[in-house]
Amino acid sequence: MGKVVLITGGSRGIGKSVAEKFISNGYKVLTPSRIEMNLENNSSIESYCKRIDSDIDVIVNCAGVNTIATLNDLTDVDLNSMIQIDLLAPLKIIQCMNGRMGNNRPGYIVNISSIWSFVAKEGRCGYSAAKTALNGITRTLALEYASKNILVNSIAPGYVNTELTKQNNSASEIAVIASLIPLKRLADPEEIANLVYFLSSDMNTYITGQTIIIDGGYVCR
Ligand SMILES: NC(=O)c1ccc[n+]([C@@H]2O[C@H](COP(=O)([O-])OP(=O)(O)OC[C@H]3O[C@@H](n4cnc5c(N)ncnc54)[C@H](OP(=O)(O)O)[C@@H]3O)[C@@H](O)[C@H]2O)c1
Repeated sequence: MGKVVLITGGSRGIGKSVAEKFISNGYKVLTPSRIEMNLENNSSIESYCKRIDSDIDVIVNCAGVNTIATLNDLTDVDLNSMIQIDLLAPLKIIQCMNGRMGNNRPGYIVNISSIWSFVAKEGRCGYSAAKTALNGITRTLALEYASKNILVNSIAPGYVNTELTKQNNSASEIAVIASLIPLKRLADPEEIANLVYFLSSDMNTYITGQTIIIDGGYVCR
């Protein structure tokens, strides 16, 4: 039986590279658009998951939003949106797919977190809250799902060359950021996709409950 992977945020950026990686390795790839599964709305998530007509092997929770605002300027709408899309939606997807993965075929869940769950930067209150909690649920679910033969991990990228990064930083800011990264460049989305694939493939037999930083050495400084 062919392997099936469910990837959120597959329309662009990291998620698109992740989808391409799984396609090139022969997986059936489900990448619902926000019209098919709007992560702002748990009932949309539930109804999309119910319509999946097969068991699945891998979930990659990649979609995310990062609205930058200091706490004084952070609106309730933006805070709630980050908590919903970056934290509660991944939880809901995993919950909805419970019973549809693992046991006889190994299952893998990879949540895309961020270095801002390890180190701080102004204006990232809501985003850091959501991503830090995502690391926490990764550890908890690693325990809850170990007996189901499902390995659960997170990946915490640093700066990746995507629309999200360009939206939140000007070209000159990106040049300064690159100079601060020990490897002197942003990551390509493919480099994140390679790690997602490693953690979700037969090569991973013993890593679970971890959040793996992939940042060119940025947080080591
Ligand atoms: N880029 C970075 O430097 C970086 C660093 C660390 C962590 N990350 C994390 O990596 C992940 C991907 O980031 P990216 O840079 O690839 O982002 P991106 O280019 O901005 O893409 C975001 C994706 O999330 C989807 N999405 C957003 N809101 C949604 C909603 N309500 N319902 C369904 N889909 C929704 C978007 O779909 P639409 O096309 O419909 O908008 C898009 O596919 C995120 O979790 C982000 O926090 C990124």
